[in-house]
Amino acid sequence: MDEVVAQHRLHPLVRSHLHAISPYVPGRPIADVMREFGLHHVVKLASNENPLGPSMLAVQAGQQAMLEVNRYPDGAAKDLREAIAKHMSLSEDYVIVSNGSDEMIKMIAETFLDHGDEIVLPFPSFAHYTFGANVMDAKITYVPLHDDLTYDLDAMLRAISDKTKIVYLCTPNNPTGSWLQHQEIEAFLHQLPDHVLLVLDEAYCEYVTTPDPIRSEKWIAEGKPLLSLRTFSKIYGLAGLRLGYTLGHPALLAYLHKVREPFNANAVAQKTAIAALFDQEHVIRVRDYNEEERQRYYAFFEEHKLRYYPSQGNFILLDVGDGRKIFDQLQRKGIITRAGFPGLERCVRISIGTREENALCREALLAVLHK
Ligand SMILES: Cc1ncc(COP(=O)(O)O)c(C=O)c1O
Repeated sequence: MDEVVAQHRLHPLVRSHLHAISPYVPGRPIADVMREFGLHHVVKLASNENPLGPSMLAVQAGQQAMLEVNRYPDGAAKDLREAIAKHMSLSEDYVIVSNGSDEMIKMIAETFLDHGDEIVLPFPSFAHYTFGANVMDAKITYVPLHDDLTYDLDAMLRAISDKTKIVYLCTPNNPTGSWLQHQEIEAFLHQLPDHVLLVLDEAYCEYVTTPDPIRSEKWIAEGKPLLSLRTFSKIYGLAGLRLGYTLGHPALLAYLHKVREPFNANAVAQKTAIAALFDQEHVIRVRDYNEEERQRYYAFFEEHKLRYYPSQGNFILLDVGDGRKIFDQLQRKGIITRAGFPGLERCVRISIGTREENALCREALLAVLHK
């Protein structure tokens, strides 16, 4: 069928609110940028990946699991859920897995949101929450962060209406790097009306080095109306395998299981993740490395009087005046960062890379900012 004719005929068949959704634009692949600018060496600091890679124990477990990929995975992911539960001091029925936490964000929307329901989101934050709500035609209320990009939790509470079903908090927040402390969320939970579910996205929680890190397992064990989203994509260095997990009360998870694809966590990912969890030394090594490199960036920004936002993630948001322009100029020098976040037009977000990549990025920043 001719493409234009097909579009014309199919357009009215599509659920009308889907027309408003624009596809997600991921960080640019290295090969694309090499080709476009004729570069031989390109550094990707655009997707908050782990530059040190996964644990070698995890890689070996994954290789072993490849020998049995003629078999379907364990749909219940029992061994993996047991390993996660043990790590979190919960029982396995408090754990559900997903094909990345991206999938869980969509599953949460499919489970709880109907046309006309409301969801309260911090702004700016991770774009996928908007996607989930849009797919279900829910109404989104955005609550701006303070000017210094810290959370305005009072404003988030005030934004809740009778129709609100979900409030999202992301900490450390992507793309700002800002974070919340345990006591702050505890107070927030106390004030949350009974009809609202809190979804806490903790994709970067293992990177946090503050004295009062969040211990959401505690609230979950107490039966609070809360889901905590975690992932193997970040500190565990397994983004390519697509594996996330969510902690929540079994009564809540039972509803999420209703929309879960039967084999949503593949067999290689399950086996690899069990070994990755076991290797907590690797996790600590990555966290310490990340902290060291964050400090190196901060020192550089301070030396050159560049405005940055302190971060507890594996990325830093830098105010460069015109994010898109500096993004383009860095890209021409072989450094892929991220810019164009709505509400953050002045900024680029830099993911922390290897020591060498970070040094190259700083050198390129000096050149393009004429420092
Ligand atoms: C805050 C946040 N949540 C969730 C995700 C999705 O992670 P996953 O790879 O597990 O789908 C990301 C990825 O960048 C993220 O930044």
